[in-house]
Amino acid sequence: MQESSPARLYAGVVGATLTIAGILGFFYNADFTSNPADRDAVLGLLDVNGWHNVVHLLTGLLGLIAFMAGAYASRSYAIALGIIYSAVAVWGLIIGSGDSILGIVPINTADNVLHLSLGLLGLAAAQMWGVSAAVAVVMLFGIAIPGIVTSDNDSESLADKGQVLYVEQGCANCHTLAASGSLGTIGPDLNEIKPDQKRVLNAIKNGGVGSGAMPKGLAQGEDADAIAAYVADASGAPIPPDAKGGPPGKQIFAINCGSCHTLADAGTSGAVGPNLDQIKPSKSLVLGAIKSGPGAMPPNIVTGKDAQQVAAYVSSVAGKK
Ligand code: HEC
Ligand code: HEC
Repeated sequence: MQESSPARLYAGVVGATLTIAGILGFFYNADFTSNPADRDAVLGLLDVNGWHNVVHLLTGLLGLIAFMAGAYASRSYAIALGIIYSAVAVWGLIIGSGDSILGIVPINTADNVLHLSLGLLGLAAAQMWGVSAAVAVVMLFGIAIPGIVTSDNDSESLADKGQVLYVEQGCANCHTLAASGSLGTIGPDLNEIKPDQKRVLNAIKNGGVGSGAMPKGLAQGEDADAIAAYVADASGAPIPPDAKGGPPGKQIFAINCGSCHTLADAGTSGAVGPNLDQIKPSKSLVLGAIKSGPGAMPPNIVTGKDAQQVAAYVSSVAGKK
């Protein structure tokens, strides 16, 4: 019972460390949350929240128990932890830093490195060389070829969200961005300056370059990120030939409606609301929709003469192209 072994050393050291880390963690963040932004960095390094601390505490206490129970229990502990932490490290690598496992356990790169070390050490302590080599190879590939593991879906849904926010937060009123159908002229044409994400984020935070003409802080946090991702993406895209010029109704449509609705004649491809080429609305139906704002459509985006012109335009061109 008293013999020492690498696995027993692992159970003792890791058990004690995790127990202490779990207890310390609560002094940094004790929120039991599924909000990925609610997290704090233990010792300025490891992102945790209440759930993550509980995981550390439980696995740590198990290690101490295994240590006391002897070599056999310690080896089981080393194998179990080795496999679990290796899997968690690979998983963390796949979802990326700043995200949360199962939506509740936040991770960052330092966490991933810690998880991987714990996993590999555990497997090595239990002398499971084959498995630990396999994990090391998977991780090496994952780090070497980030394109495989950083899923495109994430950035796409972020940009989709940004498209709606671009209109909701009023960017469209002041800026031209052909892909969104916006033709505002108070601020610079975003298709011309083609800002990257960082430049857009700075503009949102500081109000453009700070001339006072653009309001500061129109969006924050993830919303600002989403708008930046969208604008950086969309400003590089080719301008639909029909977005500029044409009758006034067309201009009004492109500016106010195109970001949410597809209408071939105006060259817009919004997908928040129904495709108007498909529903081919009559003038009075368009006027009714503008006035009442069905569902997610804001009411009275345009009024008076503008509403009449845009309704006449939509009903005359929808489904004709
Ligand atoms: C009330 C009008 C107005 C609104 C609303 C507005 N902007 Fe601006 N924006 C401006 C003006 C004017 C400038 C140029 C003056 C300046 O940069 O201070 C500008 C500049 C910019 C720039 C260029 C900054 C640079 O580095 O040269 C970007 C990018 C930008 N805006 C993005 C946005 C985004 C994204 C939104 C929505 C969250 C938005 N703007 C909302 C008026 C506006
Ligand atoms: C922020 C996004 C958004 C904008 C901007 C927007 N719409 Fe909509 N629109 C929607 C959505 C979403 C619906 C479907 C609502 C529902 O039926 O639940 C809709 C529905 C409609 C319908 C169909 C109504 C019906 O009864 O079937 C018409 C016509 C329409 N919009 C025209 C316009 C016009 C014209 C403009 C510009 C003045 C405009 N929309 C601007 C989102 C938008």
